[in-house]
Amino acid sequence: MQKQDIIISQNLEESLAQAINRIPHDKLFVLTDETTQTQCWPVIAGLDSMKHAESIVIGATDENKDIETLMHVWSDLGRRGGTRHSLLVNLGGGMVTDLGGFAASTFKRGIPYLNIPTTLLAMVDAAVGGKTGINFNGLKNEIGVFSPAASVLLDTEFLKTLDYKNLCSGYAEMLKHGLISTEQNWAELITFDLNDVDYRKLQDLVAKSVAIKEHVVEEDPYEQGIRKALNFGHTAGHALESLALVEGRTVLHGYAVAWGMVCELYLSSLREGFPKDKLWQTTSFIKNYYGAFALDCKEYERIYQFMTHDKKNTAGHINLTLLGDIGDIHINQTAERSEIFNMLDFYREVMGC
Ligand code: GLY
Repeated sequence: MQKQDIIISQNLEESLAQAINRIPHDKLFVLTDETTQTQCWPVIAGLDSMKHAESIVIGATDENKDIETLMHVWSDLGRRGGTRHSLLVNLGGGMVTDLGGFAASTFKRGIPYLNIPTTLLAMVDAAVGGKTGINFNGLKNEIGVFSPAASVLLDTEFLKTLDYKNLCSGYAEMLKHGLISTEQNWAELITFDLNDVDYRKLQDLVAKSVAIKEHVVEEDPYEQGIRKALNFGHTAGHALESLALVEGRTVLHGYAVAWGMVCELYLSSLREGFPKDKLWQTTSFIKNYYGAFALDCKEYERIYQFMTHDKKNTAGHINLTLLGDIGDIHINQTAERSEIFNMLDFYREVMGC
C-alpha cells in the first residue's frame, strides 16, 4: 500500500495549499456532512486553495454511511464534471473520511483523495491507514477497500469546537496507541488533563499517536499480523458497543474501547503478566474520565456471544490482542468462556458497577 503523506499543520492556509498543490488535478471537490458543512467548511472556504472547490454534502451520523449516500456522492462527482484526474477532499469525522475515501477509490476506478479529519477519533484512527468503506446489511464497514489517502492533513484547530465526550472518545484510541508503543508515550497520555485541554500539547500528542499508527500500518497494511495490535481493547469494546445498541443505550466508540481496554488489560495481566501497577494506573484514568458502562451478570452470556461473533475471529475462536507489558504485543490470543466471565467480574469490581 502506498505511504500516506501526513501533514501536521501549524498554519492551516499554508498546509492546505501545500497539500492541494502536491496532487495534480483538474477539478476539486470537497465532501462534508451537514455538521461539518456548517462548522468546519467556513474555516477553509475562503482560502485561495479552495476558490474553485465544488461542495458535496451528505447526511451526518453513521446511519448515512450506506450505499445510498455512496451513490449520491458518485452521482454528484459524475454530474458535476468529475474525471479520473479530479481530487476529492474529505472534511469531517470518520464517517466522512471512510465513505469519501471509498467513493474516491471506486469512482472511475479511483481518484486521489485528501483527508482533513475534524474529530479527534478520525485524526488518530479513521483518517489514517487506508481503511475505507460503508455499512451494509446491518454490518459495520462490511463493504470497502484498503486505499490510502494521498495526504492527511491534521490541524487541532478543528478540535476547539469538539464537545468533551467526543474528545474523550478520540483520546481512547490515543491511549491504545500509548499502550502498544512505549512507556514514555503511555505515561505522557495518562497524565494529560482532559478537563483542561492544552491544545498545543494535544497537537504534539496527536502527532505522536498518528506516527505510531502509521508505523504499524507501514509494517502490515492489510492486517495480516502486527496491525492487529490496533485492535487492542476492541474485541471486548465492540461487544459492549453491540450490547449497548440492542439495549438502546447510547455509547460512543471510544468509550466502548476504553472499557474494552480495562477488560483486555485484565486478561493481559492474567495471561501475559502485564504489570499490575500499570493496570491500575490505566484503569483509574479510564474510570476517572469515562465513568463506567453499567453491567449486570445476567448480561455476561450475551457479551460472550458478541465476542465469539466478532469479525476478527477465525474458526469461531475469540481473537484478541493482549499485552505482556507496554509495547509487548501478543496478537492472535484467545480466551475461554470462564476467563471472559472472570474478566467481566473484574471490570464490574474495579469500575464500581
Ligand atoms: N482502526 C484500526 C485500524 O485501522 O487498523
